[in-house]
Amino acid sequence: MARIPYPHQEVEQMPSIRRLRPAPSPHSKRLRKRFKRPRPQVVTIIASIVILFVFLVLSRATLFTSQYTLLPESSDASNPLNRRNSKSASSNSPASLVLPLSQRQPDTKKPSEHTVISADGSVFYVDHQAFTIVPSQRTQPLAVTRMSHIVGDTDAKIAFFLQISDANMPFLPRLLTVLWHPSNVYLIHFDYKMAREKTHSFRQSVAQNGKFSNVHFMQSEHITYMGVSMLLNTLSAIEQLLSMDDSWDYFINLSGSDYPLVNVANMRRILGQAHIVGRNVTFLQVAPNKQFWVRTKETRFNYVFYDPALGMQDTPSSELVRTKKEHPSRGEIGIQFLQSEAWVILHRSFARFSVRSAVARKLLMLLSMMKDPEEHFFVMLAWNDAHFNSTLAHHALRGIYWKLDGKRSGQHPYYIDDDVENGSLPFWDPGVVHSRCFFARKFRHAESALLDRIDRMMSGTHAEADMKAVEDSLIAVKEFVGCLAKRDPAWADILWHPPCNYTEYAPGHKRQR
Ligand SMILES: *[C@@H]1O[C@H](CO)[C@@H](O)[C@H](O)[C@H]1NC(C)=O
Ligand SMILES: *[C@@H]1O[C@H](CO)[C@@H](O)[C@H](O)[C@H]1NC(C)=O
Ligand SMILES: *[C@@H]1O[C@H](CO)[C@@H](O)[C@H](O)[C@H]1NC(C)=O
Ligand SMILES: *[C@@H]1O[C@H](CO)[C@@H](O)[C@H](O)[C@H]1NC(C)=O
Ligand SMILES: *[C@@H]1O[C@H](CO)[C@@H](O)[C@H](O)[C@H]1NC(C)=O
Repeated sequence: MARIPYPHQEVEQMPSIRRLRPAPSPHSKRLRKRFKRPRPQVVTIIASIVILFVFLVLSRATLFTSQYTLLPESSDASNPLNRRNSKSASSNSPASLVLPLSQRQPDTKKPSEHTVISADGSVFYVDHQAFTIVPSQRTQPLAVTRMSHIVGDTDAKIAFFLQISDANMPFLPRLLTVLWHPSNVYLIHFDYKMAREKTHSFRQSVAQNGKFSNVHFMQSEHITYMGVSMLLNTLSAIEQLLSMDDSWDYFINLSGSDYPLVNVANMRRILGQAHIVGRNVTFLQVAPNKQFWVRTKETRFNYVFYDPALGMQDTPSSELVRTKKEHPSRGEIGIQFLQSEAWVILHRSFARFSVRSAVARKLLMLLSMMKDPEEHFFVMLAWNDAHFNSTLAHHALRGIYWKLDGKRSGQHPYYIDDDVENGSLPFWDPGVVHSRCFFARKFRHAESALLDRIDRMMSGTHAEADMKAVEDSLIAVKEFVGCLAKRDPAWADILWHPPCNYTEYAPGHKRQR
């Protein structure tokens, strides 16, 4: 890929100053006589002061850009807990390694900066305004990583795909940090419309950190909301992940406004159980009733839609074009049309089938002129294939909330981190804390009390984790995933997973104990 030169790299040819100076006019001669020429020593002294000053300013500036750009302006370097990238911090004062984060010295960090602990106990400083992640020398021993008595020791390897847009970019530094695990693989796509400076500072801070060598970036593509280019983008990501790494077991796609409720080390172990990864289980939401499928088919499939991103222009329109033309198939196709949500957890065998099989290519063509094909493609492909249908667990393990106190949110789900005036978090309990999911969405704020509470009480990636709560939460998730994967034949007709006691925990429902 050719690198785009940065403006400062193009040195402009300035005309020489001397040539521009006009010939001295009689007027300027008079002026020169009036002001006596200053003595040469004074000139030298003033010049040296100016040169010294310029030198000081420049050297500070280069220091800042080369090494310390990512430092908060007023960090207290004498405090070992605040010292970054400094080898001595870890070797001289091992005691500092186990200090709880609350004992960090007076808060000198920027308001947009935050300490985040990843699944293996590495400590990072993330900044959701500068879009950077900086590793600390510190580590935090996490009890949650030793929970094999609950989830066993067998790991599944996960390939994460993160689709990032302008709106959810601020979430990315923290999301990648909590999600990061040395043995997974990560692929990030930035929307083509995003400002290059934003993505550049993020990519740079990732590149400067050796730990993130398993984080990769995809070439930016144009994506039309609700168009087939969204699905194509996901399929390209699967293809790229399949070819770059032949050992991952699960593909999970996320957007910036998702957040993990389970420590990713434990996520790997839950998926790694013999009755999950060993049976090639794929997790997909299947919409609850067939009436729903009929309705969406009429509005989304029976008319021809055109996704301008298919036109290969440099700057296509970003609006899906709805035509009044009826779809030539007149809605009659030989397979079952059905709907799911766009989030998926695909087993590698099904992921491969989605991008490399002839039937997947045919289905892609069939759905390419519809609206929102991404909510139909994977589920139709799996459901209509006898083998993959038998591997489906009808849930994507995302906690999404459409109802609060009986009130529906409308076309989009609720933002779950909006707290009410008295500081209570309406989606915490009942809600997120009992969701039994891997992820919750969607969030409005890059930092919030809800995110911190999730780290502390659910995933356990927090210096002061409540281990009892984390254990309870992990046991519940493990049971729920096991229940979904079991696919009891008695539930064959129940697509909305009530036997796994999920709906009981949705917000608005009273919990029974
Ligand atoms: C997951 O993939 C689907 C299919 O392409 C896409 O529509 C959806 O936006 C993705 N979900 C997330 C959370 O990125
Ligand atoms: C799982 O998928 C692999 C191919 O990736 C296949 O060899 C194996 O037979 C499948 N197992 C089951 C139980 O379907
Ligand atoms: C897929 O499995 C479901 C049960 O989970 C069943 O009702 C449905 O008929 C199957 N689909 C096909 C096309 O056989
Ligand atoms: C806070 O306000 C919400 C609704 O406004 C109410 O349901 C809740 O009980 C209040 N919580 C407390 C602790 O007062
Ligand atoms: C669901 O919960 C009810 C009580 O809340 C319990 O009686 C039932 O056994 C549970 N079902 C499953 C499958 O766990």
